[in-house]
Amino acid sequence: MAGISDWPFRLLCFEHGCDRATTEMVSAMGYQYTKSASQVYRYLLAKHPDEGPVTVQIFGSDPKPMERIARELSGQGIFSGIDINMGCPAQKVVSSGSGCALMREPLFAAKIMTAVVKASALPVSVKLRIGWDADSINILELARVAQDCGIAFLTIHGRTRAQQYGGKADMDIIAQVANSVSLPVIANGDIASASEAKRVLQVTGCAGVSIGRGALGNPWIFEQVKAALRGDTETQPSFEQILQTSMCHADRMVAWKGESSAVLEMRKHFAWYIRGMRNAAQVRHHINTLKTMAEIKTALFSFARETGAQEHDN
Ligand SMILES: Cc1cc2nc3c(=O)[nH]c(=O)nc-3n(C[C@H](O)[C@H](O)[C@H](O)COP(=O)(O)O)c2cc1C
Repeated sequence: MAGISDWPFRLLCFEHGCDRATTEMVSAMGYQYTKSASQVYRYLLAKHPDEGPVTVQIFGSDPKPMERIARELSGQGIFSGIDINMGCPAQKVVSSGSGCALMREPLFAAKIMTAVVKASALPVSVKLRIGWDADSINILELARVAQDCGIAFLTIHGRTRAQQYGGKADMDIIAQVANSVSLPVIANGDIASASEAKRVLQVTGCAGVSIGRGALGNPWIFEQVKAALRGDTETQPSFEQILQTSMCHADRMVAWKGESSAVLEMRKHFAWYIRGMRNAAQVRHHINTLKTMAEIKTALFSFARETGAQEHDN
């Protein structure tokens, strides 16, 4: 997830049971035309040695830069795979023909996939939506095309580009795809609980699930999914665990990016960690006015004392 899935976030996910993760998306064009790209992209491409397998996601609409970035990043010995973004709905991305716009041109998308597969020393996967809009749901066609291009697996977000993040992810179509191609399909969209992950795996027959927003402020979701799949009861983190985890997240961010960047970056994460707790909105507003991590920690500890620790509103 752009702006979110950097290594401190991913490492927490791995520590709580996530099996593999993906970087934020990296522009093939930007990478090609930036002098000393490895320096400019050092934050976007950073991986911590304690992480599990991380796939690097690339986007673009020109086979040449896509080929080049795939060759370079797959040859560094850092990542476990290359993922092509064909799902991003953002106007600035689709207007350049990248992201979900590629789904409108299956032949051209095939050219990109073939070029990346050929250039990459690592398995290449693709992230897609189910189509551009309700009148052009073509994920079945795209999945077959991807298979023919040598793609290793697909992650499908069960919405169209037109839906953006509205409506509901369509798991029926994802099930149809999983039944019609031989490559593994990973289901994605609205999976925000262990029971939902279990249900999606059952109804789609997919090889796995991909969790995005459900992991925000909630890395425990991965171990909860695994517990549910084993038939064990899932445990909820205590308020103390949530607080400690958020602070561990913050400490790693400070060590990596320095105090002032970390304070800004962590604002959204703290908001997600305390979401749903009593007085969370007030505390969030207060945290957003603070300038040092020490002040934020003091605010969180006093929040913990005042709320008596574990009250959740929902
Ligand atoms: C803030 C944000 C950033 C995202 N960035 C990316 C991205 O860079 N690449 C990508 O494939 N999907 C991205 N997504 C989409 C998610 O990966 C996922 O497909 C979508 O949110 C639906 O799954 P979820 O309900 O589990 O979040 C992003 C989503 C959000 C909310």
